[in-house]
Amino acid sequence: MIKKSKNPPGGKNTRLGVLVSGNGSNLQAILDACTNKEIPAEVVVVISNKPEAFALERAKKAGVTGLVIEHNRFSNREDYDLELVKVLKNYNVDLVVLAGFMRVVTPVLLREFPMRVINIHPALLPSFPGVHVQRKALEYGVKFSGCTVHFVTEEVDAGPIIAQVVVPVHGNDTEQTLTERIHKEEHKIYPYAIKLYSEGKLRVEGRRVRITDCMEPDGPNLHNPVVRFANNDEKTRK
Ligand code: GRF
Repeated sequence: MIKKSKNPPGGKNTRLGVLVSGNGSNLQAILDACTNKEIPAEVVVVISNKPEAFALERAKKAGVTGLVIEHNRFSNREDYDLELVKVLKNYNVDLVVLAGFMRVVTPVLLREFPMRVINIHPALLPSFPGVHVQRKALEYGVKFSGCTVHFVTEEVDAGPIIAQVVVPVHGNDTEQTLTERIHKEEHKIYPYAIKLYSEGKLRVEGRRVRITDCMEPDGPNLHNPVVRFANNDEKTRK
């Protein structure tokens, strides 16, 4: 089945509903990209399941509505998601952006926003889905990790992949240093993926997400020093 992302290029700004649970550095990158008109989108509402999330401060500072919907007020995930749907629809949200939202979403949300919920994950999926993934990557001994932006489907961390960036894992890395290196790339790749979506440039064909009219054949990887390094290396070998 081929599905194009909803908003055609040149259309109105994509209305983003960002769901958070914590610090919100990705939210900040998205807010900044919107403010600087780098992407044709605007954050219309930020929803946190945790009242203490610093992301709410960031929303406030940006003049964006921040709401707390605590999950423990609801007896099951579906009822919680029903409330989310109600609020997101109230704000006429086009695209639901999970940015460090520590909840598994259910079909209740996904049915209302089909292929319109995206997530960022701090590893190169399908490797290391789930939580504490930087620790798992270090323990496993991988030499590269990275981040992945993907559409959200019912299976956790398994939806069609929109964009990925690779980062090296150094011998002396700790969970913190690796996390920082990945975060730096997340802050570029997430606005980039939202830009592609907003410009109507994503086509989902089964598991594959094709980027149409893309001037950058390798997407954000062009900005990734590791990949640049790998490309240069190849050139010198020839
Ligand atoms: C990010 O590493 C993201 O990949 C993961 O949760 C973290 C959120 O960080 N899903 P922040 O709250 O955006 O700073």
